[in-house]
Amino acid sequence: MNPSPETVALLKAHAQTAASRSYSPYSKFRVGAAVIGEDGEVYGGCNVENASFGLTQCAERNAINAAIADGASPQTLVTLLIYTPGEQAHSPCGACRQVMHELMADESQVISCCDGEKLKTWSKIEYLPDPFDLDIT
Ligand code: THU
Repeated sequence: MNPSPETVALLKAHAQTAASRSYSPYSKFRVGAAVIGEDGEVYGGCNVENASFGLTQCAERNAINAAIADGASPQTLVTLLIYTPGEQAHSPCGACRQVMHELMADESQVISCCDGEKLKTWSKIEYLPDPFDLDIT
């Protein structure tokens, strides 16, 4: 189900706050993300870089990890919104897509936004067709 305009605005506000806290001295590319659970709880994350570049953590995965650490059940996260400052909405990286696929709800949406009007939206099958999965049931 598509999120309401109110939910998008709420998630954008959280993602903008998270982006303002981004630790990105190397790329200088701030990313904020916010994810909302089925109970309406919102969790934020920003990208956190490291001098050992491969240790950099993306905003999307940090937001999802915050939700899981706070007790949100896997596959109950319904909307994840990404915010990057500027006029271009950016797509999530492949690693984040794999983690979203595993932990977001089946009918969830991922949205990317920026300071302009443009939004990009993906369902699970749109952002990760033919995903890698292990049957854990
Ligand atoms: N980044 C994210 O936070 N999310 C993505 O989906 C792609 C990239 C971050 C990692 C790094 O700090 C900066 O953006 C430039 O790659």
